[in-house]
Amino acid sequence: MFIARLLALLITGLLLTACETGPDSPRGFSLPKGDIAKGEEVFTTLGCMSCHTIKGIENNSTQTLEKPVPLGGKVSRIKTYGELVTSVINPSHKIARSYSKEVATQPGQSPMPSFNDTMTVAQLVDLVTFLETNYQLIPYEPTNYGMYY
Ligand code: HEC
Repeated sequence: MFIARLLALLITGLLLTACETGPDSPRGFSLPKGDIAKGEEVFTTLGCMSCHTIKGIENNSTQTLEKPVPLGGKVSRIKTYGELVTSVINPSHKIARSYSKEVATQPGQSPMPSFNDTMTVAQLVDLVTFLETNYQLIPYEPTNYGMYY
């Protein structure tokens, strides 16, 4: 019994570490630094604004979505570079939780179109650099629990 449990623990441990360092791991992923201004230009020219808003950026596009998805702003956990790149080149990988209930199209499928055949790598690099600068981390404030006597 004990041996079986130990084995199960060992296997789970191995599987977990395998995910982090295996060939599918994002380790070692890095893109060159992009240009913020060019990224903003890509954001407007590719039509991202028809479904998204970013605070402080004027939006003149015709709206496709009833409720545009806001990008950037204050977040409690910073979006990593990898997450932003994934959101753009593989939008169905992880559908924004706040949105998942409202998606009217197929379940598990993001309504966001793929830009992979039209966007250049240089555009992607600039775009992600631009998006990154629009997220601000809210400093974490620990709850002040009083002392018990
Ligand atoms: C037809 C509408 C549409 C267009 C056009 C579109 N998106 Fe989206 N996008 C969405 C929707 C809906 C979501 C939320 C659901 C999801 O996460 O897939 C989303 C999610 C995202 C997210 C993740 C947001 C989060 O909080 O996790 C990013 C980043 C993003 N889009 C960037 C872009 C960029 C950059 C472009 C332009 C190249 C673009 N989108 C074009 C509809 C669109």
